[in-house]
Amino acid sequence: MPVYRLSIAILLLALIPLETGARDAWAIWDSRCEECHGDPARFAGKYLWNIDGQLQGHHHIDNLGLFMRNHYVPDHEIEAIHDMLLAEANSPQRFEAECGECHGAVNEFVEQSIWVRGSGITGMESGMDVSEFLPTHRELQPGDVSFYRKLFARVAGKPIP
Ligand code: HEC
Ligand code: HEC
Repeated sequence: MPVYRLSIAILLLALIPLETGARDAWAIWDSRCEECHGDPARFAGKYLWNIDGQLQGHHHIDNLGLFMRNHYVPDHEIEAIHDMLLAEANSPQRFEAECGECHGAVNEFVEQSIWVRGSGITGMESGMDVSEFLPTHRELQPGDVSFYRKLFARVAGKPIP
């Protein structure tokens, strides 16, 4: 366990009144999850989404809680791990900041303008796949395009094509 994280864990343990289940999620992660998933912030940044407070995975969309219960996470630690991952996960805030002034809230934008299906993600007005459209729009770079594709699929509650 990296020393800085250990010291953060100790600091938190000293500050937070302890209850069962409030055991530091980062420490739980280090002992039970890190060997396979590495750093939790990197893991969450790569695979996880906070959509309206709901934690979604890359593979597991609406059943992530159930999946985690059967996946190395004891019931009494689910909440702590869930909250930690939620705080580190990607969220629509970036859309609000970068696109909201013209497109408004992401939920409405996706509902009205974006069609997510198995074979791709299409803009309704342009009729173009967003992978082709976005690089010409707002000077978005490949990393940004990938982020927004995933976000649109996540907001639509669909697997990422
Ligand atoms: C022995 C290796 C291993 C350990 C230990 C492990 N995982 Fe996993 N985890 C995996 C694999 C492999 C997958 C992908 C399988 C899948 O999505 O069905 C996965 C998937 C996940 C996902 C879903 C990601 C997605 O995109 O849908 C979450 C969340 C997760 N793990 C959390 C945890 C947590 C929290 C712990 C510790 C309490 C943990 N894992 C421990 C191997 C592991
Ligand atoms: C300054 C205003 C403005 C901003 C900021 C903006 N857009 Fe747009 N966007 C537009 C306009 C106008 C259109 C209509 C098509 C065109 O003229 O290019 C559009 C079209 C789109 C479309 C195609 C929709 C369809 O129905 O085909 C997508 C996808 C899109 N924008 C995504 C984004 C994303 C993602 C961001 C943030 C990174 C963003 N836009 C920021 C003005 C904006």
